Amino acid sequence: MILENKLDITDQVELARVEEKITKQKAKQLFDSGDITKVAMGTFEGLIYIHNYLFNDIYDFAGKIRMVNIAKGYFRFVPVMYLKPSLENIDKMPQNTFDEIIEKYVEMNIAHPFREGNGRATRIWLDLILKKEIKKVIDWNLVDKEEYLSAMERSVVKDIEIKFLLKQALTNKIDDRNLFMKGIDVSYHYEGYTQFKTVEV
Ligand SMILES: Nc1ncnc2c1ncn2[C@@H]1O[C@H](COP(=O)(O)OP(=O)(O)O)[C@@H](O)[C@H]1O
Ligand SMILES: [Mg+2]
Repeated sequence: MILENKLDITDQVELARVEEKITKQKAKQLFDSGDITKVAMGTFEGLIYIHNYLFNDIYDFAGKIRMVNIAKGYFRFVPVMYLKPSLENIDKMPQNTFDEIIEKYVEMNIAHPFREGNGRATRIWLDLILKKEIKKVIDWNLVDKEEYLSAMERSVVKDIEIKFLLKQALTNKIDDRNLFMKGIDVSYHYEGYTQFKTVEV
């Protein structure tokens, strides 16, 4: 079933294409305009800002907490009836060390607050916390898609794999525009969007 969208697109392939192009333009704009510095660090409010920034031209649910239960694989994310209190608690989680930050990221993934686009928005959110708190970001080029997705699946039970995988990909290049743009491309590649390069859109 195709997601209802503001562009009245009814073809799944077309929607994926347009969504990739527009949201990559937005991601690029987020960095180049400096709006990225306005994101509240490590809170749901900050994640709302990013999600809304990327998806507002396409979906009514951009930046809005979901109203349906969703699952991936055998895992059902936080049920709608527990979502708000869960997000309030995640906001309060510490983020002083690499381990604490990844633990917070894992909980935010388990919350999965939006109808779609959680992966892409939350990875930007994660990098901003790492940048602020430990002066590093992830070089997503060094994180293989299958290993990443398998570690995220596993993270709802045990976070050792995702911590290991992301730790070996840390870099000091926190203000590198090219690294940011490439990171967006890799992040989208995890979700099956590979038609456009963020620097070129
Ligand atoms: N089985 C799973 N268990 C836990 N997390 C998962 C699972 N499958 C995928 N994920 C996480 O969910 C993300 C995808 O969420 P989604 O809302 O579809 O985001 P996007 O639309 O950006 O792809 C993945 O990048 C991964 O981090
Ligand atoms: Mg998705």
